[in-house]
Amino acid sequence: MHNRIRRPRRNRKSAAIRAMVEETRLSVNDFIFPLFLIEGSDKKEEIPSMPGIYRYSLNVLLDEIQECMYLGIKGFCVFPSLGDNKKDKYATEGYRKDGLYIQALRKIKSKFPEIALMTDIAMDPYSSDGHDGVLENGEILNDETLEILGKMALAQAEAGADILGPSDMMDGRVGYIRKVLDEAGYTQVSIMSYTAKYASAFYGPFRDALDSAPKFGDKKTYQMNPANANEALIEADLDIEEGADMMMVKPALAYLDIIKSLKDHYNVPITAYNVSGEYAMLKAASEKGWLDGEKVMMETLLSIKRAGADIILTYFAKEAARILIK
Ligand code: PBG
Repeated sequence: MHNRIRRPRRNRKSAAIRAMVEETRLSVNDFIFPLFLIEGSDKKEEIPSMPGIYRYSLNVLLDEIQECMYLGIKGFCVFPSLGDNKKDKYATEGYRKDGLYIQALRKIKSKFPEIALMTDIAMDPYSSDGHDGVLENGEILNDETLEILGKMALAQAEAGADILGPSDMMDGRVGYIRKVLDEAGYTQVSIMSYTAKYASAFYGPFRDALDSAPKFGDKKTYQMNPANANEALIEADLDIEEGADMMMVKPALAYLDIIKSLKDHYNVPITAYNVSGEYAMLKAASEKGWLDGEKVMMETLLSIKRAGADIILTYFAKEAARILIK
């Protein structure tokens, strides 16, 4: 018989000991729940490629937030889905004060002042070209886009948003938005930068939900190449310099190494966006009975947190909250 001094299994021998030595724990405090807003009233439409996720008109969306708050969810990120008649080349609907999105933010924040209300800053939901920047002769113009993003940021801050989320990947946008906000006196409004946002095929169901797929080309001249990890550190250096309060990696699962790397290199909170395609693939496999939906959901969320995410934007927030508060 071998004399084995080290036996790691001793720390796994009972549920009580396993719980005691557990290194990572999920909590509803970690979650931000993305919600899709549409025009009209009393509307709730399921998104075909995202079972269990809906587009809501404002009155139903307010009820949904209330329900999530009972489960302990405090962070919400709202995305608007607009008809083609509201889209134009310069995404002007994105900062119109009485436009669908800005009005909704104002109503949400006045009804639920205690939530952390996060926004999306990007042109694509309002752009007739389906891009995150101004498209001219086949090119996305960076600095011209910043002016539009700045107007969106101001309108959102004025409506009462707590955290602004630039998801566009233009160069210099965090610094530009910070300056615009500070000059208008919104020094308390936070910026969560989509620091390392990859040109990913996992956004497919989200683009269905918003009908926001690019009408021309792809997003590879602004979103990052999935092959690159060092480049995420360049983006992060710039975001920190420009004043980002929090940084995001997106998507999450195929980029756990990037989450870990940002967590190791920087001291601001790191968010991971567990995107629509990641949600869709687990849902599809569990609907077929090929995976245990609840278990793979919890294991997936845990893996994102273990990799280093402090905050997780996830369509699973409500379902996972139900399990966590049991
Ligand atoms: C665009 C935006 C996208 C997502 C969030 N904001 C899609 C894209 O870049 O085309 C994707 C989110 C998801 O897939 O869940 N500004």
